[in-house]
Amino acid sequence: MPGRRDTLWGTRFGFYLAAVGSALGLGNLWRFPFVTVENGGGAFVLLYVGFVLIVGLPILIGELMLGKIARRGSVAAFRRLENDDEIGESEPGTFGAGGFAALSCLLVLAYYAVVSGWVLHFLMQFAFGGILSSGENIDSSMRVLKDSGLLQLALASVHILISLVIVVKGVQEGIEKWVGNIMPVFVVLLGILVVKSLATGQATEALRFQFYPDFTKLNWHSPLHALGHAFFSLSVGMGTMIAFGSYLKPEAHIPSAGFRVATLDTVISLFAGLLIFPTIIGMSLGSSGPEMLFRALPRLLQGIESGWFFGVAFFVCLYLGALGASIGLLEALVANVTEALKVSREKAAWVVGTATVVCAVIPALSSSVLDDVTVNGRSLFLFWDSVVVNGLLPLGVLAFCLALSKKLKAAPAIHEFVNDDSLVTQTLYSHWRFAIRFLIPSIIVMCVMTSLLASFAEVIFLGR
Ligand code: PHE
Repeated sequence: MPGRRDTLWGTRFGFYLAAVGSALGLGNLWRFPFVTVENGGGAFVLLYVGFVLIVGLPILIGELMLGKIARRGSVAAFRRLENDDEIGESEPGTFGAGGFAALSCLLVLAYYAVVSGWVLHFLMQFAFGGILSSGENIDSSMRVLKDSGLLQLALASVHILISLVIVVKGVQEGIEKWVGNIMPVFVVLLGILVVKSLATGQATEALRFQFYPDFTKLNWHSPLHALGHAFFSLSVGMGTMIAFGSYLKPEAHIPSAGFRVATLDTVISLFAGLLIFPTIIGMSLGSSGPEMLFRALPRLLQGIESGWFFGVAFFVCLYLGALGASIGLLEALVANVTEALKVSREKAAWVVGTATVVCAVIPALSSSVLDDVTVNGRSLFLFWDSVVVNGLLPLGVLAFCLALSKKLKAAPAIHEFVNDDSLVTQTLYSHWRFAIRFLIPSIIVMCVMTSLLASFAEVIFLGR
């Protein structure tokens, strides 16, 4: 049967490594700090952490569970939900959940590849470019990238090619585990850098900024931004976690697995904030949007002994994190195209690779050739980011909730909630089902509506 999983993770730890390898990435280190600054700090962080627990975690559990029950990757899992009356009810349709997932994967991968290219560029600047020799060098490293859309596109293409080769050779499971193995090293490295960063004299300010919830700093779009970022960071809403669930052994307890992955992912994001904010505050760098990490980190490392070494190690780890996430996205896309076009994996991989590079042209050129084109005052890059993270992901999750609540039979799902070790009761299942059926769809609709109404009001009253 297509997509059937015959190899399961040998150890429970192997699954965590791979799932964390896919969840950890640019979302935590690159996106979280600048989105937090744009939304005013502590209150946004509180919203984000709340959404991770109330919304992201049940969805993560749902994706892992569907994968484990169906023993398939995303497309095939949805198909099985539709056609196999052992696990699915016999009403038609899965609310376009599979299609949404595939579109989101493509659009996320396209701009994710561009930022992965930036990471490659900075890795080279640290390794060979003497970036730390002056403040001017740091600025010019970013300027070179911004001014040259072609360089950005070339680096993004290199990244896609590396990911493609891994997926075509079918070694992604090995690489995912390997990337996961590096993640503990990354966590230790981050820990050291956070301590050094907090020692720069801005600890109190940075901690206050990140943790003191001043709700007046929020805007009407903040809830949706926090929600979208929670989905993005946990890699849910695109079906990629379904594949990880399909590798789990029958005795694995999904709710605990999901909880551990979500907690670790969130803690890493909070670390990233503490790494960046002291420098942002100390040097009054303000909000530099998507460039924030690349402006602040070299400045922090400039003041640290062996900063060069830490820079290379940081960007190697960050690149591997980005690679782990990209492989998950690419794998889901290749599986989709293989099924839809009935072609070999290799052909499908080239189709997907080409489509991704074509899509990446827009975000890659947005700061140079397409600099003048803006939507609502935002660059095409930021517009793309927002459409995908704040638009497609929440809608994808909504479709997923509908599909699960209408189609997934209770018996196989309840089974996943009973833990043989601790005999966790079925109450957990009813909470989860309530979240999937009512709570999460209501929260998504409310956040989307609030943001849409605010946009209308801005257009009508402020003429934006
Ligand atoms: N969660 C990844 C990150 O934080 C991004 C990602 C999103 C990966 C969706 C796969 C699917 O970087």
